[in-house]
Amino acid sequence: MTDLFDLTGRVAVVIGAAAGGLGERMARALADHGATVAVADLEGQEDKLAETRALCGDTATAHAVDVTSEDSVRALADAVVAAHGRVDIVVNAAGVMLRREVGDTSLEDFERVMRVNVSGCWLVGREFGLRLAAAGWGRIVNVTTVYAERVGPVPESAYYASKAAVVNVTRSLASELGHSGVTVNAIAPAVFYPTAMTAPLGNDPERLEWFAQRTMLGRLGDPATDLAGPLVLLASPGSAYMTGQVVYVDGGWSAW
Ligand SMILES: NC(=O)c1ccc[n+]([C@@H]2O[C@H](COP(=O)([O-])OP(=O)(O)OC[C@H]3O[C@@H](n4cnc5c(N)ncnc54)[C@H](O)[C@@H]3O)[C@@H](O)[C@H]2O)c1
Repeated sequence: MTDLFDLTGRVAVVIGAAAGGLGERMARALADHGATVAVADLEGQEDKLAETRALCGDTATAHAVDVTSEDSVRALADAVVAAHGRVDIVVNAAGVMLRREVGDTSLEDFERVMRVNVSGCWLVGREFGLRLAAAGWGRIVNVTTVYAERVGPVPESAYYASKAAVVNVTRSLASELGHSGVTVNAIAPAVFYPTAMTAPLGNDPERLEWFAQRTMLGRLGDPATDLAGPLVLLASPGSAYMTGQVVYVDGGWSAW
């Protein structure tokens, strides 16, 4: 029987994949299921990216990219195709968070978060999406948050705005690329700990426990295990009839 979740022969690019984050774990999950993986992150993250590449098998490659730059995203797409001959799966885990009250948030702060999280998502979707569509098959997985359609108790107005926008970028691209055999979905994690983004919560055990108890499962997401299954589903032939969806990987947080 064909294994619907087998990624053998597929080439996946994972952006925002420096070691220690969700991107690293997602890259490893795709490699474990047979994909050849290209990992990418900002210049300056070479050492952490090399760690991820080493965990993704002998064929993996590492690339610098800035998702806010058209030239850089195009160069990444060219480099992945030059290295591996094709690209089938694109995971964009690049993101920034700004934990700051609105009165202390400048317009420049707001726009910087929007540029990485929203413009970056749209640009990666456009540049890779058109290539996938030309090939007639593809999977794009964006990363939003459990706060995609609500806000949380912590002041993060730019982050909340940006992650809501990721949802409709996802749906828009899904609607335009669907007829070409490309699905576009988003994963919405609750609090996965620890990553570079959530590590500061380690100084606040009460808040961490509050986040854990806010879920139905009574625990935080484990970056090592809890994302792999949903991601592989969305990257695989097994999700052929799922597109434009937000898949909450949140221990039940959003279902209360
Ligand atoms: N960790 C969580 O609990 C959690 C929860 C919900 C959503 N998320 C989302 O998951 C994604 C990954 O988060 P994480 O916790 O692993 O954080 P992280 O900080 O470890 O990873 C984000 C990565 O994005 C990269 N990046 C930032 N700007 C970039 C740019 N312009 N171009 C290319 N790469 C860039 C960073 O270098 C970093 O490696 C983010 O989109 C985040 O919003 C995380």
